[in-house]
Amino acid sequence: MSVADAVRARRSVRAFLDRPVPPEVLRQALETAARAPSGGNLQPWRLYLLAGEPLRTLKEHMQRRLSSNPQPDPADYPIYPPKLGEPYRTYRFAVGEDMYGLVGISREDKLGRLRWLTGNFRFWDAPVGLFCYVDRQMGSPQWSDLGMYLQTLMLLLREQGIDTCPQEAWSSYHRSVAECLQPPAEWMLFCGMAIGYADPDAAVNRLQTQRMPLEQFATFLGF
Ligand SMILES: Cc1cc2nc3c(=O)[nH]c(=O)nc-3n(C[C@H](O)[C@H](O)[C@H](O)COP(=O)(O)O)c2cc1C
Repeated sequence: MSVADAVRARRSVRAFLDRPVPPEVLRQALETAARAPSGGNLQPWRLYLLAGEPLRTLKEHMQRRLSSNPQPDPADYPIYPPKLGEPYRTYRFAVGEDMYGLVGISREDKLGRLRWLTGNFRFWDAPVGLFCYVDRQMGSPQWSDLGMYLQTLMLLLREQGIDTCPQEAWSSYHRSVAECLQPPAEWMLFCGMAIGYADPDAAVNRLQTQRMPLEQFATFLGF
């Protein structure tokens, strides 16, 4: 698989098969992804990988948390700008509408949409869950390094036929996650990531998100 093939084949998958990810394949991808660049070679990514019993325990913990108190934890960082302007607002709206359209949940069915989103906290039933932390002293340049690591990882996994879904939703319950993982106090949860094999029959996995045309985001000078 070429890099371009892996880039085109990567999509956020939200329904997984009950099929384990070989630990060696996962370790290899995690290690190779660390070749991702980072400013000053700080390598600010800090990860937890969960499978089997620890994953079950965490999901049960989250289930209890959500059914007793669905209120999110006080945010460590805003997932989106408070007043998301155009064209970003439209892009965000479109991906939501396309996704709910595929799973047949109407805009009026607010409860149905909320219930659907709780799938995030089961890692969309993936066999592996990843959490990505960053030291609180790091700023936005280092956060961009996290993105480089995570995308490199997703492409390497894709090369192995493995699918992913990056998940900022987890940051809304960072305290509940910390109760299970007991990370160092100076670490902040950026996101989770579901890792496994896509369920080819799940309607939600037919989601094909759109991209803006090149001319809209790139300015060419001197060509
Ligand atoms: C940092 C980050 C956080 C995301 N958080 C979530 C999430 O919490 N739940 C979810 O279902 N998808 C999440 N996504 C997936 C995006 O919705 C998805 O990447 C986007 O719609 C483009 O679709 P594609 O990944 O299929 O190309 C996240 C993606 C990124 C990069």
